[in-house]
Amino acid sequence: MTQLFDFAPLLPAGLPPPAMRWTGAAKFNFTGGNNDADQVPVDGLIAAATSAMKREGRNLATYGLASGPQGYRPLRDFLATKLKRDAGIACTADDILVVSGSLQALDLVNGALLARGDTVICEQDTYQGTLTRFMRRGVNAIGVPLDHEGLRMDALSAVLADCKARGVQPKMIYTIPTVQNPTGTILSEARRTELLRLADEYGVPVFEDDCYADLIWDGRRPPALYAMSTSANVIHCGSFSKSIAPALRVGFLVAPWALMSRMLALKTDAGSGALEQMVLAEYCAPHFESHVPALRKVLRGKLETLMETLNEQFGTAAEFDDPKGGIFLWVKLPDNVDTMKLYQAALKEGVAINPGPEWSTDKAHSGARLRICFASPSHEQIREGIAILADVCRREFGVPTRSGNVERARA
Ligand SMILES: Cc1ncc(COP(=O)(O)O)c(C=O)c1O
Repeated sequence: MTQLFDFAPLLPAGLPPPAMRWTGAAKFNFTGGNNDADQVPVDGLIAAATSAMKREGRNLATYGLASGPQGYRPLRDFLATKLKRDAGIACTADDILVVSGSLQALDLVNGALLARGDTVICEQDTYQGTLTRFMRRGVNAIGVPLDHEGLRMDALSAVLADCKARGVQPKMIYTIPTVQNPTGTILSEARRTELLRLADEYGVPVFEDDCYADLIWDGRRPPALYAMSTSANVIHCGSFSKSIAPALRVGFLVAPWALMSRMLALKTDAGSGALEQMVLAEYCAPHFESHVPALRKVLRGKLETLMETLNEQFGTAAEFDDPKGGIFLWVKLPDNVDTMKLYQAALKEGVAINPGPEWSTDKAHSGARLRICFASPSHEQIREGIAILADVCRREFGVPTRSGNVERARA
């Protein structure tokens, strides 16, 4: 038999661990930022694709659709109008870079600002994709605790003062201020003002990840940090993943040119997918404003099913705040529950959850916490999946003692 080629000796040092082969999604999938399949505006996207292609399909012959390297101009025009209306950001299409999902925005900002050994500040509980990126770059991430109103300014102030005392200059404050992932909190306008004051005082830029800002139940949001900054020290990113569909892979960055020009030089893919940008621009200009409130209503309904089911199945053993928007719930279980172990045991029963330690800089604080995404599973799957999770949790950790409003004997 022919010897198969061995790639292993060729691999450079420092590669991430190998990926696992995908073996299909769990039956009850409460992970990831997936959306409600019925809310993808399929007919509207088909009509938008047809009209955009008929009108401008010939432009596909040119890299960047004859719009230059920052992305399809009509999409950037739509974003400039939307950002002004919703987030108070005064910018033009020239300040916006269309990227392949906000994950690429994270890579570009990190690539432009961070070197191995640097320090960054972020919320203590934060997006796993950000934490793994910091780790891979060999960056020290200092987590600042949150409360019911988001990032705690007393704690941020203390962290900045401590860094200064140690002679450490943090490279950025990464924050998800508007429907924080995973806590669902919204940073108040007063705290935003204080955050910007501290950032100015210590000379640290702010990276504002605003990808859930469209999903606030009552549609009312505080102005973006980018809009409030008087020193142009904020980089802002957003995404169409949560408002339209994650598989489209379209996000955007707004940044001062001094940094935008460096990120543009790092974006070496010759532009993000053109068809997606054309379809989004065509669909969103007339429909975004009516699509999003309808989506929010459906998401809120699913959240209510989730909270009701958790109350039924876990009783007081599951603690959570009713979030003001978004697609996930951050749940605290009794201290003896180790959600890394719960995650493994639940997965064997077809229930996938995000264990808290993967979403936090503080593994002890998050050990009994988990994140549950409710946008993608049906109401029925939420009820069934959470009942299975409660059974697994009881079997493994003895809690909850009650489930489905029925007292259970401890094993
Ligand atoms: C806070 C945050 N930032 C960025 C992303 C990446 O989103 P996308 O690349 O789909 O825009 C996510 C996805 O869940 C997220 O929660």
